[in-house]
Amino acid sequence: MGYPHPIHPKETPVLSTHFGAAAARTYQGWVERGGYAALKQALGMAPGDIVGVIKESGLRGRGGAGFPTGLKWSFMPKDDGKPHYLVCNADESEPGTFKDREIMRWTPHALIEGCAIAAYAIGAERTYIYIRGEFTEPLAIMRAAVEEAYANGALGANVFGTGTRIDMTLHRGAGAYICGEETGLMNSLEGKRGNPRIKPPFPAQAGVFGLPTTVNNVETLAAVPHIVSRGAAWYKGLCLGNEKSTGTKLFSVCGHIAKPGNYEVTMGTPMKDLLVEMCGGMRPGRTLKAVIPGGSSVPIQTAEEAMDTVLDYEGIVAKGSMLGSGGMIVMDDSADMVYQIWRLAKFYAHESCAQCTQCREGTAWTTKVLERILRGEGKPADLDLLLDLSENMTGKTICVLSDSCAAPVVSGIQKFRSEFDAYIQKTRQPALAGS
Ligand SMILES: Cc1cc2nc3c(=O)[nH]c(=O)nc-3n(C[C@H](O)[C@H](O)[C@H](O)COP(=O)(O)O)c2cc1C
Ligand code: SF4
Repeated sequence: MGYPHPIHPKETPVLSTHFGAAAARTYQGWVERGGYAALKQALGMAPGDIVGVIKESGLRGRGGAGFPTGLKWSFMPKDDGKPHYLVCNADESEPGTFKDREIMRWTPHALIEGCAIAAYAIGAERTYIYIRGEFTEPLAIMRAAVEEAYANGALGANVFGTGTRIDMTLHRGAGAYICGEETGLMNSLEGKRGNPRIKPPFPAQAGVFGLPTTVNNVETLAAVPHIVSRGAAWYKGLCLGNEKSTGTKLFSVCGHIAKPGNYEVTMGTPMKDLLVEMCGGMRPGRTLKAVIPGGSSVPIQTAEEAMDTVLDYEGIVAKGSMLGSGGMIVMDDSADMVYQIWRLAKFYAHESCAQCTQCREGTAWTTKVLERILRGEGKPADLDLLLDLSENMTGKTICVLSDSCAAPVVSGIQKFRSEFDAYIQKTRQPALAGS
């Protein structure tokens, strides 16, 4: 549902059905809503069969990269005699994204159940849920739910009397964006500085504590019980034509929009329907200028591209951007694109872990050059300089934070060049005070 708004007829609530219903937070309330039936069902299945169902459903990771979930699970070694781990990525620090927080706030047992099924499927006896440091309310709700799940036999040494052990540890982060990157997250979990690791080895070979690990996003894992109980064919059927993108997706819509909130739609829904009908369109008297559709790390779309986009992995790529985490930042004609891009660059410069030269230097210099332009001190060559910097920041580093800084800069210059030119040619008042 478009929480805090009522469910719109064009939404397909699956994960968000119980958003806003405090009674669904308790173990009893969750069971009354059909909760934990999928875990009981899964524990009666062979782990490999669960992986098969998830593969067949077409579920792809909702944390940003869209990697097929069942395929990821199948990479975990079998019968290797080593401890395995499931890590749930609840860091959610991508600007513009606020859906995992709502899943944990309203349906904590959905996440616990999804984690327990995934853990059983990959042969893990322990799940770590890595929660963003600032999420005090979701953390308190998750703590209470995990305690209840243990007390009712949904977690522990003998889950629902089946002899299967599934333990769960909540780990609170300290609020670093880079700890959302899965290998940085694992280092942080181990008590080290949250620097991303070079891959390979991939987590399935050597993950947390050097042991086989699967990392999945909150929204990905919360979808798992629904797929187990309703079947892969049902989930696959939730798509509007493109079989590579199935199921529903929560879009967090924010910025210059009449009704910001989380909206759950079937993959393939037109962005126009989401922004105009479900979210109520622009603020009075304003027109749409740009959308960043997948969290701040993806290219910016023009209004024309956005209005012609279907909301699935391939549909957004076809219109110049990426689905990412589904955090949609909407900007109307009052937005200063240069200023907004500078704010993003500043964020990435602040959050860079500084291991890679291209990222450490590139994010800092990008910010400085944009600042110079916004002070009215830009030079005609600055746009080529920014593009050159971005080129050297893309595809060359340990993780993609560096690429993420470059994406809005390159797309911004390509699509909104006249706004940069206006500052450089001094036909626009400086937005920042002079040096
Ligand atoms: C800089 C950076 C930050 C990230 N932050 C998050 C995050 O906050 N939450 C998340 O689920 N994935 C985040 N990711 C993606 C994870 O590395 C990983 O791909 C994801 O958790 C895998 O889960 P999924 O397959 O279910 O999507 C981030 C990636 C990068 C490069
Ligand atoms: S790209 Fe940036 S954030 Fe990622 S590892 Fe390198 S320096 Fe750290």
